[in-house]
Amino acid sequence: MTNIEMTTEEIYENIQNKVPLLILDLRSPENYMVGHIEGSANAKCTNMQQKQAIMSRLPKDQKIILIDDDGNEASQNANMLARFGFDAHYLKNGIKSWNKTLVKSKQDTIISNEKLWNSLKSDKDVFLLDVREPMEFAEFKIPGAVNVPLSELFTSSVGERIPKDKKIVTICSHGNRSMVATFALAQKGIESTSLEGGMSKWNQVLNANTAIKNADLTIIQVEKVGKGCLSHIVGSDGQALVIDPNYPPSKYIEFAEKEGLKIIKVIDTHQHADHVSAARELAKITKAELYFSAKEEYEIEHKKVDEGDIIPVGRKQVQVIHTPGHTAGSMTFVVDDKYAFTGDTLFVESVGRPDLRDKAEEFAKDLHDTIHKKLLKLGSNTMIFPTHHGEGIKPTENGIFYTTPEMAKKLTLVDLSKEEFVNKVVSMTTPRPMNYSIVIKVNKGSISIIEEQVPDLEMGPNRCSIQ
Ligand SMILES: [Fe+2]
Repeated sequence: MTNIEMTTEEIYENIQNKVPLLILDLRSPENYMVGHIEGSANAKCTNMQQKQAIMSRLPKDQKIILIDDDGNEASQNANMLARFGFDAHYLKNGIKSWNKTLVKSKQDTIISNEKLWNSLKSDKDVFLLDVREPMEFAEFKIPGAVNVPLSELFTSSVGERIPKDKKIVTICSHGNRSMVATFALAQKGIESTSLEGGMSKWNQVLNANTAIKNADLTIIQVEKVGKGCLSHIVGSDGQALVIDPNYPPSKYIEFAEKEGLKIIKVIDTHQHADHVSAARELAKITKAELYFSAKEEYEIEHKKVDEGDIIPVGRKQVQVIHTPGHTAGSMTFVVDDKYAFTGDTLFVESVGRPDLRDKAEEFAKDLHDTIHKKLLKLGSNTMIFPTHHGEGIKPTENGIFYTTPEMAKKLTLVDLSKEEFVNKVVSMTTPRPMNYSIVIKVNKGSISIIEEQVPDLEMGPNRCSIQ
């Protein structure tokens, strides 16, 4: 076996001679950021699974040099890589033996989903570099992201496609390929940040906006930004009802507390197929009452609500209307005759899919009746808050997604006769949401999962409306 130990002088000579090197710094991101070898990348893995995933993506045709504090961990890892056929080496005695210049980082080595969301809102200089394969990218992406697959990042010409004056954030599905992308970019002298947990975690960001705030009513719309799922907190007199909560449930407590509200009731408009409902978990944590539609089956202890029921919240009486179509048991909740929470029945840009329960024709007829005989009969300026919005749909200035009966009447689908509508629905070819049958079982309570499984179950785009 060749000698895998390298001295500072040997590594320095390689750098001076422009030998293609992949210098991976195994120290903590904090230590790396304070001072690292120029052209090196931070490669701190959080667990064995990640280490293996990263290893499987490393190029075999390049010299890899590992750096750590004192040479111990780096030596073990270099030996392991060498056994797997890599041209792997490590810096003898670690970074403390490096007697040349060290450089500081200008940006974090990894970024959390929430931090990226916040920086996208305020920082125009972020360049989102999605390194997944084109097929995965086409399926769903962060708006504005540019796709350069990981394999291409190791080629010499790719540097021209990456801007030099922006903060590069690399993205993949789980945060492994995106980390390897930071290695490839560092080799080219480009600093970058990897999105921790990738698109899977990105899909879990919840963002709250105030839709209504007056003396006795607060309505907060909570958006799952990666998927376009919407949920709502209806507050009055210190009490709150949460409609269609998503994971992570703890965020709703945070959003409600900010408004001085205590969550006392939690409800789903219907049994969701595209995302895991956090209703049960949120009710459990907050000791709130859990309600579901009386016309749907659940294997979870809950109170049932049906047409004509009233759910009191603070000084408000929330009315329940049965609005079947998307599912047989879908309910709409109305406050003050002015605000309606319609689930997946009527969206800003379309109507809900009635074909996810294998009774497309029957459900399409019900949906047409629901829209025309119930929802469009609400006052013409009633604010209708749906449970999703489609890709590219712009919210109002304060970030709220809603429609009204007046706006909905202008939708082509709403304009169709019942027969035309049913024909259109039956001929639909839009793929179903990924994992939808498992998600239904989880939401029904037939199978249980842990919170860590939610991101992967919800992977993929939102497909709850007719397109
Ligand atoms: Fe749905």
